[in-house]
Amino acid sequence: MTLRLGVNIDHVATIRNARGVGYPDPVRAALIAVDAGADGITAHLREDRRHITDDDIERLMATLTVPLNLEMAATEEMLGIALRHRPHAVCLVPERREEVTTEGGLDVAGQFDHLAPFVARLGEAGIRVSLFIEPSARQIDAAIRLKAPVVEFHTGRYADLGADPDEVRRVSDAAALASKNGIESHAGHGLTFANVAPIAAIPQLAELNIGHFLIGEAIFTGLAASIGRMRALMDAARPA
Ligand code: PXP
Repeated sequence: MTLRLGVNIDHVATIRNARGVGYPDPVRAALIAVDAGADGITAHLREDRRHITDDDIERLMATLTVPLNLEMAATEEMLGIALRHRPHAVCLVPERREEVTTEGGLDVAGQFDHLAPFVARLGEAGIRVSLFIEPSARQIDAAIRLKAPVVEFHTGRYADLGADPDEVRRVSDAAALASKNGIESHAGHGLTFANVAPIAAIPQLAELNIGHFLIGEAIFTGLAASIGRMRALMDAARPA
């Protein structure tokens, strides 16, 4: 299975919004990302619109020729937006206004009843639903019961612990369990040139979603070079 790269462009919008002007444009970044080897674009429309805006989503949907993965909280407002735009995929994420970034996985097991109608309604609209979860059997079991086609494993703990081998095993075991149950596995959060290889080598993973590091690295090397290098590291790590 090839490993797709989804480039998260949120932080291009963060820089734009720091000044309240029209640049840098995340849609322009998305087009460069695709040229540089991104298989898809990921954008998180947060409740507080701190980076990506409704207009960005509208323009991404009108412009992109690759799949858009819309990250969003499971709220009625976001559901309405997703159903209006019908992106290729929606990744349901936990969201707290005061957090700097998505700090952990969605508690799918604990919020089962709340999430069930969101997964169902998005699925009925033909949108591929992904659940951003910790790599744990309990969360995967809940995703199976929700009939989610995709899970994305939160690799924040892996990144924080310095590419800890126990954490690689946790993600790898989780991907194997999901795969055995017919669920496609993705991973993301905190991935960098230094830590991507052990995660990219997990054969059941179909996609990595990477943002903050790539946008930061682009300051020094340009966005195309930053993404090209990540793509090359992912390909090199993949078992033949
Ligand atoms: N995947 C999901 C579901 C996320 O919420 C994020 C962070 O927005 C990422 C991937 C990318 O994480 P990072 O920006 O740390 O690469």
